[in-house]
Amino acid sequence: MKRLSVLLIVVLTLLSLAVAADHNVTTAQEEFKVVVIGKSVHPYWSNVEKGVRAAAKDLGLKDEQAIFWVPPTEDVAAQIQTMETYIAQGVTGIAIAPSDPNALEPVMKKAAEAGIIVTTLDTPPVEGSVSLVYIGTDNYQAGFIAGQIMAELLPEGGKVGIGRGSDTALNALQRTQGFLDAIKDTGIEALEPVNDREDAARALELANSVLSANPDLAGAFGVYAYNGPAWATAIKEAGRVGQTKLVCFDATTDIINGIKEGVIDATVAQREFDMGYKSVELIFKIATKGQAAAFREMGVVDGKIDTGVDVITAATLKDYEAALDAKGIPHEWTTEGWEPPK
Ligand code: BGC
Repeated sequence: MKRLSVLLIVVLTLLSLAVAADHNVTTAQEEFKVVVIGKSVHPYWSNVEKGVRAAAKDLGLKDEQAIFWVPPTEDVAAQIQTMETYIAQGVTGIAIAPSDPNALEPVMKKAAEAGIIVTTLDTPPVEGSVSLVYIGTDNYQAGFIAGQIMAELLPEGGKVGIGRGSDTALNALQRTQGFLDAIKDTGIEALEPVNDREDAARALELANSVLSANPDLAGAFGVYAYNGPAWATAIKEAGRVGQTKLVCFDATTDIINGIKEGVIDATVAQREFDMGYKSVELIFKIATKGQAAAFREMGVVDGKIDTGVDVITAATLKDYEAALDAKGIPHEWTTEGWEPPK
């Protein structure tokens, strides 16, 4: 009898612990709130937001439990201010694309010290950051690929203009460095990069002025999502389609149209939908299962989740579309009715 009651107590205790554990998970789920902070209003960031929404839906979160926010153009002060707002709210986690990693680190540290899970996406943090994981492209490598493509397009060399949206964000700096390293031993001469601070209208003005100062421009490199389209417009207006080779980043509708028209020679497409999706998923898993299990399940290696890139040219565009469709990743463009040039 005594034995039986001891057993009963043990069983009851175990049961109550199990309920408590479940309860904790449920409470975390209900109280869970994640914020994803991007860098500018642009279709690229809308794709990140779609990833955030898709993850929230798959995890059974309400809309208000997964917040997405971007400033209109590059705005370090606004990113800091937004971090402060959500630290004060005591959210569960914040994933941020720091437009200036040095300027953002103190407020990221403040968040981490307040017990908030801090990660980064799209653009990496400083060395030794409090950011637990960076989810995004290997930007140096991706820039290097862009440089190799440019070198193939310009076997005779020539001058190449570089347009980018930041002089502080590490993704812009690393892409540029990768590109420069890849063209180092070729006859290509890179002009000083021009910075539009994620202002698409300014990007076009700058592309126009580089082209008018260098009417023989052999190539152009668009570092951020709207730089490719800005160069494309400038190249068309200058009547230099085919003469000024254009390599850029990302695969928003205007970029795909540029490839279809033949003004963009190649683009290095990032997987920004995945960046948004995985940021929410990772923070949710850390909050509900603990860091070790979350890192294991999500394949975090050296504090990173490399989302990978796809190189797209007219020859591979249809395959790229088929791959997106197979993964169920939404896109607003279609190749229907278009065939690559023979
Ligand atoms: C970059 C982002 C940037 C976006 C729009 C992308 O290529 O990865 O950091 O905000 O372009 O400018």
